[in-house]
Amino acid sequence: MSQDSGSGGEGQPGTPIGPGELRIMNSRARELLLKYWDFRLFDGAMRRHGIDLSDAVVLDAGCGSGYSTSLIWEMFRPRELLACDVVPEQVERARARGVPATVFVGDITSLHLADHYCDAAFVLGVLHHCSNWREGLAQIARVLRDGGVLLLEEPDKQHIALERALLGWTSTCDSGFNLEALRQELARVGLGIIEERPLYFGLFGSFLCTKMTGHTPPEHIVARRLLRTFSTASDMAASHEVRT
Ligand SMILES: C[S@@+](CC[C@H](N)C(=O)[O-])C[C@H]1O[C@@H](n2cnc3c(N)ncnc32)[C@H](O)[C@@H]1O
Repeated sequence: MSQDSGSGGEGQPGTPIGPGELRIMNSRARELLLKYWDFRLFDGAMRRHGIDLSDAVVLDAGCGSGYSTSLIWEMFRPRELLACDVVPEQVERARARGVPATVFVGDITSLHLADHYCDAAFVLGVLHHCSNWREGLAQIARVLRDGGVLLLEEPDKQHIALERALLGWTSTCDSGFNLEALRQELARVGLGIIEERPLYFGLFGSFLCTKMTGHTPPEHIVARRLLRTFSTASDMAASHEVRT
């Protein structure tokens, strides 16, 4: 399933991430940020909206060294966990963590997963690496079921410019990627933003989105999911006990 993203980077077509950024991404510092900043935001957003991933099929798209995959497992214990990255060496690192996940080489812009297969997807700092990031987002929308959730974080143009200056990395700059373009694309592919928060002092945006069904507003989709969780008689009784 190895695929070339065609994303380009550091002047080498097909290299989606430069060596400088790869070192930073695979560092302990990045792991600590993921655990204590990025995932705290996601966890808070999901709690506020009553989203529980314990019975979910979850995809970590662009999993890098697999630390995000291990956090998803530790924090949410999904029923099934899938993780992919377009760089085979990253996939090897992710597999070496021994997380109970299916980890495969895969390109977010051409995912080999059935339509509606996933209940949730995490996409952390991946789209801005893809020259065809709109297709990456469309693929995520395709593999999510209706009402499924997307946990997404990406940098805005200031960070991309900084990245270019410090790391000499160029591919993002040609793709028209920025957070405003991302918001428009989310709406176009039917992913409604439930919550958006600034991350890393506003250099990044952190998003909780849901796959829309028709014209239903995103908050109503989440409300419906909550109602579904009270669908069995025992749930109703338990909920009644809590209230009385
Ligand atoms: C900035 S790193 C983030 C890694 C991880 N998600 C994290 O937050 O630590 C971006 C990752 O996306 C991967 N990537 C870039 N383009 C991709 C594509 N088209 N499909 C899948 N993964 C891709 C890179 O190989 C890299 O591991």
